Amino acid sequence: MVRNGEFKQLLSYPQPFTLGHDVAGTVTEVGPDVRSFKVGDAIWARPRDHRIGTFAESIAIDTADIALKPASLSFAEAAAVPLVALAAWQALVDVAHIRPGQRVLVHAGAGGLGSTVIQLAHHLGAHVATTARGTDIETLTALGADEVIDFTTNDFTDALSDYDLVLDSLGTDTLNKSMTVLRRGGQVISVVGPPDPAFATQVGKPLFKPVMALLSRHVRRRARRLGVRYSFLFMHADGAQLATLARLYDAGDLSPVLDRTFGFDQTLEAVAYVEQGKAHGKIVVTR
Ligand SMILES: NC(=O)c1ccc[n+]([C@@H]2O[C@H](COP(=O)([O-])OP(=O)(O)OC[C@H]3O[C@@H](n4cnc5c(N)ncnc54)[C@H](OP(=O)(O)O)[C@@H]3O)[C@@H](O)[C@H]2O)c1
Repeated sequence: MVRNGEFKQLLSYPQPFTLGHDVAGTVTEVGPDVRSFKVGDAIWARPRDHRIGTFAESIAIDTADIALKPASLSFAEAAAVPLVALAAWQALVDVAHIRPGQRVLVHAGAGGLGSTVIQLAHHLGAHVATTARGTDIETLTALGADEVIDFTTNDFTDALSDYDLVLDSLGTDTLNKSMTVLRRGGQVISVVGPPDPAFATQVGKPLFKPVMALLSRHVRRRARRLGVRYSFLFMHADGAQLATLARLYDAGDLSPVLDRTFGFDQTLEAVAYVEQGKAHGKIVVTR
């Protein structure tokens, strides 16, 4: 989405710029004031917006955005985690405050984000439903899904009701339908939009609030009519949260889901593969 310029009004990168939001690697140099990390540390990170560019041999990252890599994960496994795990944490913990026993629907459970949200929601004690192909039922049940709705043969709105939270990563139609499976007072969080006014504040462009309000007016009106809440989530870098997540990965509560890896000189092929939207887990570029 960043490459296609979909957020360029709010999140502009001077061109040309290097893509890549996730990284796991070894610290080769530290600034004079850095105390929390040293050369040789194995770290993982999702560098903050405007400082991305991990499809590279080296990158400078603010220490507030990094944490020590979970010792139990290889670099390739660790590189598959930061963005999706932070997005999952920020949606389920920071925004939705999920408590044990609550009911959570995660769309596209077989994808990079979905497979992580399922695991974290399960870890938090939620009852987890997800949408995926029938062939993925076994895998997603093993990750912690209590119900897997085969989206090729069933409509999730026929199977589910009274949910506390829906995490939408598919957009328009799915987002609109998702509101009908929520209990009154429940909430839907979309990571693909439309962006809401709070997003303009998050990216430091409050003047864009009216534009965001306009873009999301239909969705927010529909949510109000149904007695539910709508919010857009655009995850942000957070090294402290990554340190918390590292403990969950080392404890075996969460595990990375990798689809496949590509060599560094195949980065364009890797991005094209992601773009097909058929990934089962994350795609990793190694060097
Ligand atoms: N705003 C944020 O902070 C944020 C954070 C993370 C991700 N995102 C966005 O979220 C979206 C998903 O990311 P991702 O990394 O999870 O993508 P991904 O790994 O490419 O997800 C692809 C998965 O979606 C499944 N899928 C496609 N159509 C489906 C449907 N109708 N019902 C159920 N599953 C379906 C596919 O299953 P099949 O192969 O079986 O078709 C595949 O497993 C992307 O647009 C990404 O940019 C946003």
